[in-house]
This record gives sequence, C-alpha cells and structure tokens, in this order.
Amino acid sequence: MNTIEIEDRLGITFCNRQPIAIERGEGCFVWDEKGNKYLDFTSGWGVTCLGHSHPVITNAIFQQAQKIIQNPNSGFTYSPSRAKLLTSLSTVLPASLSKVYFSNSGAEANDAAIKLARKITAKTKIVSTLASFHGRTFNTLSVSGGKDNTEQYLPLLKDNCFVPFGDMDALAAAVDSDTAAVILEPIQGEGGVRIPRQDYLVSVARYCQERGVLLIVDEIQTGFCRTGKFFAIEHSNQEVKPDIMTMGKGIAGGFPFAAFAISEGVDSRLKKGDHGGTYCGNPLACAVATAVVNFLQTQDIAEKTRVSGDWMLHKLESLQRKYPQLIGSVRAKGLLCAFELGSDDLVAVVTQKCLDNGLLVTPTRNRVIRLIPPLTVDSTELQQGLDILDSSLASVVPSH
Ligand SMILES: Cc1ncc(COP(=O)(O)O)c(C=O)c1O
Repeated sequence: MNTIEIEDRLGITFCNRQPIAIERGEGCFVWDEKGNKYLDFTSGWGVTCLGHSHPVITNAIFQQAQKIIQNPNSGFTYSPSRAKLLTSLSTVLPASLSKVYFSNSGAEANDAAIKLARKITAKTKIVSTLASFHGRTFNTLSVSGGKDNTEQYLPLLKDNCFVPFGDMDALAAAVDSDTAAVILEPIQGEGGVRIPRQDYLVSVARYCQERGVLLIVDEIQTGFCRTGKFFAIEHSNQEVKPDIMTMGKGIAGGFPFAAFAISEGVDSRLKKGDHGGTYCGNPLACAVATAVVNFLQTQDIAEKTRVSGDWMLHKLESLQRKYPQLIGSVRAKGLLCAFELGSDDLVAVVTQKCLDNGLLVTPTRNRVIRLIPPLTVDSTELQQGLDILDSSLASVVPSH
C-alpha cells in the first residue's frame, strides 16, 4: 500500500483530502513523494511563517533537543529555554500584556482564556461574533460562529451569544450584566478574511473597559507579523488593550505551540491551580518559538509583509477586473489574502486547478479562497503564484 492508501485505511479522516503525499519542503516550496513540486500559498494554514524547514528552526530544534526536551515535573520546574522565550515575547507583546502561559494548540489557548474569564468574573456569558472560528474543543466550539462544525454538537455551552462581526451596536446590545467576556479575531480568518472597519476594535475595547467586561482577542491566525504588524491589534495604534490575547500558528513556525498573554488586572485575579498542562512551556517548543520570534523581529518581517500585502492586494484587484464573472471581492491585510468566488463548487474547482498547476491554496468558508504564503516569500515567488492562479482561473472561464 502507498502512503495515501495507508492513511485512508488506518487513519481517521474528518475532511476531504487532497490526493498528494508531501514528503519534504524548503522555503515556499514542497515536494510530494513522486517528486512533483508545489508552491505553498497555505503555509500549513498560516503556520509556517518562515517557510518550510528554515535553518533557524531546524537548528533551534537540534540544539535544544541535545540539551533537554521535556522538563522533569514539566511546569513545576523552571526552564532557561522558557525564560528566553518569555524575554523575547516581552519585547513584542502589546505593553498592556505582562504575563504569558503556553499551550499546545490555538484551541487550547482559547479554551483556557474562556475558562479563566468565567472563573475570575464569576459570570458565564461569552459574546462572540458570527462566522468566527476559535477552535474545536467544546469551549471554543461554543464561541465559534460557523454552523457547519458546531451544530452537530448541540447543545453547546449555554448563555453564549453571537453578533455580526463589525457591528458595534449589536455587540453593545448583547453585552449585559451576565457577560464575562467578549471574544473576537481582529480579522476573521476562517470566516473568509473579513477585515472590519478601522474603528471597530477600538470601539469594542472601549466598550468592554467601560462595562468591566473582559476582552479576549484571538490573534492565533493574525499574529506574528501575518497582517503587516507583529499583532493585528497594532493597526489600531495602541488603543486596543485586551485583557487576554491568544496566539498560535506562526508562533513557532510549524512546531505545534500556542500561548495566551494576560494583563496585570487578570493576573491579579488568578490563583495557583487555575490552569495547567503536561507540555505547558515545553523547552523544545520554547526554543523553536524564541528562534522564530527573534527572526521575525530582527529581519523586520512585519514591514516586509505589509509591503508584500499591498502588492498582493493590487494584483488581486487586477485579477478581479480580468475575471469579473468569477471573482467577487478581494481582500488582503499583509499576507492574509483572499478572494471570493460565486459558489463553494467553484472554490473546489479553482483549488483543484491550482493544485494541477503546482500551487497550493486554502479553500475557506463563505465561498472564499485564502492565499497565505510564508512571510519569507520573495517577489518572484509571489508573482509565480499569481501567474498560476491567473492561468487556473482562465481555464475555468469557458465552463463557467
Ligand atoms: C482565529 C483562530 N483561532 C483558533 C484557531 C484554532 O487553532 P488550532 O487549530 O491550533 O487549535 C484557529 C485555527 O484555524 C484560528 O484561525
């Protein structure tokens, strides 16, 4: 049996897989077992921010693995590797966030944020947004707005409610004296790269502060330079001060890792025993994340991403003008880019055409294809990806 047959027979599959078995990657490219080369505009769902197998990451893994991988008694003991990451993060985190805890996945970080918000406020209601995505644990499903993966697990945690993303009035009406927290993404990623008005986050933050409601900002997809700032809330000029901010994906460039940061106010209301986990700040993961954070900072990747993102938006707008019968709106903030098609079927066809032509893209909810290249992508690779996208769209036009 080959790789695909083994996985299909012995692995549990919850999604429609693309029939390629990826064996290795370098920079923005990956190769399958047959030697076919693909340009990766998915970054493994917004994760491999430095591209595939970047030497900064492979060296960090090798160096740390030779020292220690998991601490004795895990989080009960201190770790120089964890201390280094905390120090690096303290130089990039928004000033209002003073302490950090580590998790293994984004959902786990959000789950902890929700759990702790409920505990310290002694309230249960969380206000979230329609079309949001915060993870697949029960807590996080219960604050995720897409029906497709929540409805089958009803009833979800009660008391939560959803308001349209970007609608400040609806949010204000939903927040009441039972509300523990508001949770939202600065830009909705899985919802289709939905970018709110500039003043939305500021208004939400102000409103939460006035009402004494905690604000949980989910930067899992938008953090670590993806949108052209180290964190997407920085587009609002220091005016958004979350009580809890969650991070994941790009934080360790592909090594499974996540984190949440809290304000002093939240920290003062937490007690020993409130949270924990076997791998919480595992030294190997911390070493990789430190290498990634330092690289992003020293290479000024946020600014490079901003410039590339502006260029991508301009090019996507050209494609939209060229294929008005296919492309609805186009959006980009840094290298979190997307274009809307007329139907989910069309999304599947264009995704397949791109694959056939050597480009990996990410089909997303709400009839959207996301383009999320590694942040180390160069202009030639970006142009190559857009050329493939152009010819893939051209081949779809006659049958459309
Ligand atoms: C905004 C956001 N939050 C949370 C998650 C869940 O992260 P993970 O898949 O690492 O659990 C995702 C994943 O796509 C996400 O985009």
